Amino acid sequence: MSTCNATFYGVGVGPGDPELITLKAARIIKSADVVAYITNTKGGSVARNIASNVLAEAHSAQTTLPIEISMSIGRADINTAYDKAASLIIASMQKGKSVAFLCEGDPLFFGSFIYLMDRISEYQNCQIIPGITSVNAASAQLATPLTILSEDMAIISSRSTDKKIADTLKAYDTVAILKAGPQLPRLAVLLQTVGRADETQYIEYATHESEKIIRDLSLITDKKGPYFSLLLITRKEREYRCD
Ligand SMILES: C[S@@+](CC[C@H](N)C(=O)[O-])C[C@H]1O[C@@H](n2cnc3c(N)ncnc32)[C@H](O)[C@@H]1O
Repeated sequence: MSTCNATFYGVGVGPGDPELITLKAARIIKSADVVAYITNTKGGSVARNIASNVLAEAHSAQTTLPIEISMSIGRADINTAYDKAASLIIASMQKGKSVAFLCEGDPLFFGSFIYLMDRISEYQNCQIIPGITSVNAASAQLATPLTILSEDMAIISSRSTDKKIADTLKAYDTVAILKAGPQLPRLAVLLQTVGRADETQYIEYATHESEKIIRDLSLITDKKGPYFSLLLITRKEREYRCD
C-alpha cells in the first residue's frame, strides 16, 4: 500500500466540557481536510458533540467521515467495521487529505483511535494530540486528589473478574474503575466485601451538563448507571501535610 505525506491525527477532545478541548486539538480539528468520528446506530457521537463549537469554525471544504460502530455487535463484526473505516481513512490520505479522528477524552487511553492507529500506522503518518482523560476530569469535579506522596494508583475496567477487582482494591491506595455504570450493583457488593465502600465516589458524565455525583454508595447499590461513568476510590486517611 502506498504511503503519502498526509497525516492521520488522533485528537483527544477531553471528557465533555468544550472548554477542556486543548488549543492544539482545536487547531487540528479546524484545519483537517476530513474529520472522522465514531457514531452509534442512531448517528449520535459523543466526541463530535463535544467538538461541535470547534467544528462550526472549520474551513468550508472540510468533509466528515462518520464511522458507525455498535458496541452490541460481536467482536468479529467490530473488527470488520474498523477494517472498513481504516480503508476509508487510508483512501482519503492517499488523495493527500489529512484526517482528524475525534476521540472522547484521550485517544490512547481506552480510545477507539487505538484500533485505527493499529491498522493505519504501518502505512501512513499518525500523530496524537492528547486530551484530558475521564479520570483527571473526575478527580477535578470531585475535588479529590488522585495520588499524594507515596500512594499507588490503579485503573481497572468493570469488565475485569471479581477477583481481579477485589485484589486491585486491596493492593492500591487509589483505584479508578471505568465502565462502572452498567456494573454498579455488582461493584457495590465487591466494594462492601473488601471494606472500601465508604471510600468510594461515583461520577457520571463528568464535566457534561448532565453530570451527576454520588458520594454515598448505599444510594446506588441496586441501580445501574450509564456507560459514561466511573468510580473513584481513595483512602480516607491521607497525608495532606508533609511532616
Ligand atoms: C472507552 S473508555 C474511553 C476513555 C476516554 N478515552 C478517556 O480518556 O477517559 C470509556 C469509559 O471512560 C469513562 N468515561 C469517559 N468519559 C467520561 C465522563 N465524562 N465521565 C465519567 N466517565 C467517563 C467511563 O468509565 C467510560 O465507560
